[in-house]
Amino acid sequence: MLHPSKLNITLDRGGEEPIYRQLIRHIKTQVESGSLTAGTRLPASRDLAQQLNISRISVVNAYAELRAEGYLSAHAGRGTFIAGESTGTTPAPQDGKPTEIETPTTPDRSIREMMRMGRKPGVISFSGGSLPGDFYPLNQLREAINLVFERDGAQALTYEVTEGYYPLRAAVRDYVSALGIHCNPNQVLITGGTQQALDLVIQALLSEGDVMVTENPTYLGMIDIARARRVQVHGISIDEDGIRLDMLENYILDNHPKLIYVMPTFQNPSGAVMPLHRRRQLLNLANEYHIPVLEDGVYHEIRFEGEGLPPLKALDETGIVLHASGFTKMMLPGIRIGYVISNSTHYERLVRVKQAADISTPTLNQRAIHLMLEHGVLAQQLERNNRELRRRRDAALDAAQYLPPNTHWNVPEGGLYLWMELPRNGPNAAELYISAVQMGVAYGIGNVFYTNGCGSYRMRINFGAHKPAEIEEGFKRLGRAWRELICDYEGMEKAPLL
Ligand SMILES: Cc1ncc(COP(=O)(O)O)c(C=O)c1O
Repeated sequence: MLHPSKLNITLDRGGEEPIYRQLIRHIKTQVESGSLTAGTRLPASRDLAQQLNISRISVVNAYAELRAEGYLSAHAGRGTFIAGESTGTTPAPQDGKPTEIETPTTPDRSIREMMRMGRKPGVISFSGGSLPGDFYPLNQLREAINLVFERDGAQALTYEVTEGYYPLRAAVRDYVSALGIHCNPNQVLITGGTQQALDLVIQALLSEGDVMVTENPTYLGMIDIARARRVQVHGISIDEDGIRLDMLENYILDNHPKLIYVMPTFQNPSGAVMPLHRRRQLLNLANEYHIPVLEDGVYHEIRFEGEGLPPLKALDETGIVLHASGFTKMMLPGIRIGYVISNSTHYERLVRVKQAADISTPTLNQRAIHLMLEHGVLAQQLERNNRELRRRRDAALDAAQYLPPNTHWNVPEGGLYLWMELPRNGPNAAELYISAVQMGVAYGIGNVFYTNGCGSYRMRINFGAHKPAEIEEGFKRLGRAWRELICDYEGMEKAPLL
């Protein structure tokens, strides 16, 4: 039986730094100096709290954050361990690189586990990033596939050219021109969903070790891409108008990143919408320092309130913006049709990378989506889906009364998510998660969306995923899970039942 090691830690009780942050700092230092090695078992939170004479919540918080940053790993029933080379989760020392440059530290395992646990039968899961089947135009898809077979026969099952089925590229050109983006079909590359569009851009424009800037928090899938492609990510804080340009400029001056990735409309996960003046300022900055901007427009049309704004690509006069989007969130995620629009310099390289990746996006899917666009299905879907999403957003806002007191959230005018912050006097989002799933509800744990492991008290709720009655029940369960857990914390008063 492996006994937990006794930690040698001296805390500054009178200092400004919170106790749990001091604990994080001490453990990190000991891992980095080698005095705590991979596989070392740490004391249980209750024991360490006793040993150091601090509250257990400080230890629980510190362990959770260290886990999120990849320093620790937890094994159910066995305890908490120092993660190590063998598990590939210990963050590498920075080797004299500027300390602000982070390798993405999203805990792969915890996100996978999060998704898996949330899929248990009976769990009302708000954690995913898509709409459920009742939003999909199934009959129209069936009809489109039948028509494609009748019209094209076996041709619908051969390889397509890598750039994509030309009539679909022309239909994308027509669709985006209504958003103010003027391009020709030879600047449109059809991809396997928006995800592949983002990945191709990273592969085409960046090399291993290059630095990319994102919003912080950002889209988890982009953090995954950066990890897979060994690209460094630096997250710049956001405010209610999106990425902070003052911080971005300072960072550019010191670190010369190779790409800026943003979601100007209904940012995932925060729901922020960048106003017009900031869009223009961002483009000025990108042009001044010659840094390409990758715009992710996947939620652009999922708007149920307020006025639409032009995508960055519509304001781009120099070709510095690459615009990625798809018909996945708006219509059918599983058909995997996305696209990227770029100027000719990048386009050829993107096509080469796409060819190496998968030769072409499935022919049948491209042709079916093309027919659906021709028949006006997208416009009908947007109208119907956005109306229903507004109803579900309102149901979620009403049901928020069941959440812990002093929880905060945004009121999004579009997109799929409420971005919440739990009160700091109780469990953080990772600590609450297991109890929540046991109670029958799941959500996105906030710190997986950050490039630097922040956001412990944040939760992302996909309100589109359930009907209003289930949303209400899910929020009730969440409130109940929080209240049960808070009773376990020493020295904390039981919250009043609502
Ligand atoms: C911001 C953002 N970009 C891209 C994607 C990937 O979308 P797709 O299904 O089109 O690949 C998602 C999916 O959640 C997303 O939220």
